[in-house]
Order: sequence, then structure tokens, then C-alpha cells
Amino acid sequence: MKNGVKLYDTDGNELHAHGGHMLFHNGWYYWYGEDRRDNIYVSCYRSADLEHWEFRCHSLTADSPTAPIRVRSDLALSHEIAGERADIAIVREMGGNRCRVNIERPKVLYNRLTGKFVMWMHYENGMNYHDARCAVATCDTPDGEFTYHGSFNPFGCMSRDCTLFEDGDTAYFISAARDNADLHVYRLSEDYLNVDEQVKSLWQGEYREAPAVFKREGKYYMLSSFCTGWAPNQGKWASADSMEGRWSMLHLFGDETTYRSQPAFVLPVTKDDGEHFYYIADRWNGKQYFDSTYIFLEIQFDEAGNPYIEYADECVLG
Ligand code: GAL
Repeated sequence: MKNGVKLYDTDGNELHAHGGHMLFHNGWYYWYGEDRRDNIYVSCYRSADLEHWEFRCHSLTADSPTAPIRVRSDLALSHEIAGERADIAIVREMGGNRCRVNIERPKVLYNRLTGKFVMWMHYENGMNYHDARCAVATCDTPDGEFTYHGSFNPFGCMSRDCTLFEDGDTAYFISAARDNADLHVYRLSEDYLNVDEQVKSLWQGEYREAPAVFKREGKYYMLSSFCTGWAPNQGKWASADSMEGRWSMLHLFGDETTYRSQPAFVLPVTKDDGEHFYYIADRWNGKQYFDSTYIFLEIQFDEAGNPYIEYADECVLG
């Protein structure tokens, strides 16, 4: 994968998967990410070799099916009170043909209990970033159209930049709360459709965004950026012995702009010589969002197990 350039799918079309996430399922890597064209919100590509990406579908659009299962937004609730059906209100929440909302940082996990693919993301109303909600969508297949289940503030908290992390059969949703000042970790319910408990409030007052979690040799690592909008800043990492345990202080990761990038996710890949971890990030162009590109760098570890990256023009993931 070449760094800092536009990427194309196997049909030769530009690849749109920013702020994204990859899910490995039945031999395929599925790459989900932001697609801001027209009425599209999230697109899905897949690859077996982590080099050639086949476009699969627009996973979530303004016209996606909606269902008010478990998660009900404030909007849905107020319309229900007004005598309207909640699902109609959720369609409105998605923009319909009214106006574009903002769906950012989509992440997808497979739930073994229900057999559903569950997407969590950051929802904003399209006019400002004041709603600060997470949203949930589900699908029976990894590369089908997801059903949107609405947005909400977990336990009433603001929720912006976010990620998912699965640890065995337990999944966590991590998101920036209190106007991005703190990073909350929520353990999800068994079906991954709701937050079950807020288990941590990390680095209060440190304004960490773009969280990305991975586990290596029994230790948990979290990368994050500082909060400067589309402009890149110094990345940091921290570690813990368990997701719900005590997290370390923040340590520097990359250079002062993290090589002009912001974390999207970390991809673990098992190869013949063991497990490798890749830092996959966005190099945003805040003035021209569609000129944003991607960064792929292998995460290396020093003797103490501290992660670091060095810049290279390209990276072999597979
Ligand atoms: C960044 C965030 C992006 C997007 C952007 C908007 O800090 O990581 O996902 O929300 O702000 O300015």
C-alpha cells in the first residue's frame, strides 16, 4: 500500500474508506470507511491479500433501511411522542433527501451470539458537532446494506471520535466524551447493540481523539491523537494489562504530526513468522476532504515492548 496517494479499487475507482476499520471474516479482510459522496455514508471493500481491494457495497446511505431496535434516538423519541412512528423519525435522522448528516469513523464487529455484523459510528446532524452521539447499524452479512438503528448519547455522555475493540467474546466501544476532554471505555452488551457499562474514563483533560486499540502478547495498547480538527498532531500510545484495568500514562508515538496522519485503526495480521501490527491512518486534507489519503506503517516494538513507527513510502500488509 502506497502512502499519501489516492487508492483505487479493482474496478479502477477511487477507494473511499476514511476513518475506517477492517474486519477479518472467513478468509476476507473487509475494509469499511467513510464515503462522503452524494447520499453515501459508509462503503465496504474486501481483499484476501491486503493489496487488491474489491468494492462490495455502500454499507450505509441516507436511504438505508431503518429499524428502532433497542437503540432509540432522542429524535425518534420526540416524534413518537408526537404520534409518529419512530422508524420514520430515524429515517429523518439519516438525512433522507433533506440534508446530509455526518457519519464518521465507522467500525464493524461480528457478533457470534446473534450472527449479526454490528457497526458503531459517530453521528452528527450535518450542521455542527453538537449532537456528539454514537450510532448503531446491523447486517446479516459483512458486505450487505446495514439497517440503521438510530443514535444516542451513551449514559447521556457526549460521544465523538470512536473505535471498537473485541477481546474474546467481550467488546468495547471507546469514544471521546465531555467535549473530547476524556476518553470513555464502554463494555458492550452481549449482542453488541448497546452499551452495558462505562468501565473507564481515561486521561481526563488530555483531549485524546482517534482511538485505536490492539492486543499483543497479552498486553493492550491504545493509540490516539490530540484534538486539532483535520490538522495532524502528535500521536500518543498507552498500554494496560486489561481493557478495564489501569491504563498507563501517554507516551509519544511518531513525530510531532505523526507523519501527517491521524489513527483510523490498527490491523493485526498473522504471518508465517508471527503476528504483525499495522498503523492505518488518514492523512486528511481538511480544505478538500476528497483529497485526503491513507497512511500504512508497520508498528515495531523495542525490547521493552514499547511500540513505535518509522516513516516509509509504502507498506506490505499481506
Ligand atoms: C477530527 C476527527 C475527525 C473529524 C474532524 C472534523 O479531529 O478525528 O474524525 O471529526 O475532526 O473536524
